[in-house]
Order: sequence, then C-alpha cells, then structure tokens
Amino acid sequence: MRFFIDTGSVAEVEEIAAWGILSGATTNPTLLAKEDGDPGDIICRICELVKGPVSAEVVSDDAAAMVDEGRALNALHEHVIVKVPFSRDGLRATRILTDEGIQVNMTLVFSANQALLTAQAGATYASCFMGRLDDISVDSRSVVAEIVGALRPGGTTTQVLAASIRHPEHVVTAAQLGCEVATVPAKVFHQMLGHPLTEKGRELFKADWQSRPEFVDWLKGLVARQPTSA
Ligand code: E4P
Repeated sequence: MRFFIDTGSVAEVEEIAAWGILSGATTNPTLLAKEDGDPGDIICRICELVKGPVSAEVVSDDAAAMVDEGRALNALHEHVIVKVPFSRDGLRATRILTDEGIQVNMTLVFSANQALLTAQAGATYASCFMGRLDDISVDSRSVVAEIVGALRPGGTTTQVLAASIRHPEHVVTAAQLGCEVATVPAKVFHQMLGHPLTEKGRELFKADWQSRPEFVDWLKGLVARQPTSA
C-alpha cells in the first residue's frame, strides 16, 4: 500500500517527504483553509516535494463549474490531480475530466455502490473515508472491505484510497483489506513510528557499542575514509 500525506501544510510535507515514504498528497478545502498563503503556491510546493499525485479539490456543485475548476487546478502543476466530491454532477464532471486525460480522485465515497459508480466514471482513485464512518458508528472496516470486494472482480483500474485516517489501526486495516493507497495525516505518521521495544533496542545497541571505545574509533575511522557525499 502506497502512502499519501493528507494535509495543507507545506511544513508537514517537508518533514514527512524527507522520510522517503511518500508517493503523493491529498489536500481538501478544510485543510487549505487552515493555512496562510496562496493556495496555488501551497499546492505547487507540495507537488515539488512529493513528486507524485497531489489532489486539489473543486468546490462547485454543478458539473460544468466543477470541470472549469478542475481544468484550472490541473493546470497549476503537472502533478495536480482533481478531487471531485461524489454526486451526480461529480460523476458527470469526472467523466468529462477523465476523457480529457485529467486524473480524478473522487472523494466522499462511503459505500460500495458509490465506489462502483466512481469506477465507471473513470476516476483513478475512490477516496473512502474511514474515520467519518466510525464517527457515526458505522464500522469502517466492513465498508472498506465491501468496497474493495465490489471493485476487484470487475477488474477496474480505479484504486481504493483509504482516507479520513485517524489512527495507526486504520492504516493497518486499509492495508490488510487491499487498499492501494492510504492518505495519512502527519500526526498518524508520527504515531506509526513508535514502539517501546524499538527505542529500548536502539539504546541497548548504542550502549553496548560504546562499552568498547576502540570499536567507536574504528567506525569513525571507517567513515572518515569514505569519499564525502555531496
Ligand atoms: C481525504 O482526502 C480527506 O482530505 C481527509 O482524509 C478527510 O479526513 P477527515 O475526515 O479527518 O477530515
């Protein structure tokens, strides 16, 4: 499962992109509205950092306006793909944009039926919101399983993108269920790092090595003999 970062913050993308684990990013109007600065500049900077698909969302309700906004957002940067909220008009806009060769991430998909329609409209990604389902006491695991199970037998190329990820368990569930992508907030990426045995193990390895000062000097010397990396 590939990872996108779910954010409107350039600083968060800078930090997590440096880990070398990102394939793309998703923004939405709520996330961008929290940030200072020009949204276009933010989206382009995120594109440069992740070097992969970056979803930028349309906000109009009717298909023609969605298509106009989608074309304009896509023109911002070669990595921008258009995020379209699910609706009748959203499906129509998705068909028009994809026929023009513009990739679409259909968002706010909460059921297998919506995902099946999304796939037939030609969307590259169907964004299924896990956290928001759990918020209303609907089991997100069952819904995502149903979506993956409904799309795969038809051989669709639409990728299931697990969104509204609120904690590391959502990430594992999405991977186990066969989602191609999860878009993860920076806070959850941080939570995914930690394990007490990892911390303890690192400390022990370091202490044992340092108990042999000649080994410390040997490794320093080995490093010093390497050509310096640019
Ligand atoms: C997905 O692309 C959305 O931007 C996001 O995952 C929504 O998450 P939320 O439900 O935590 O707002």
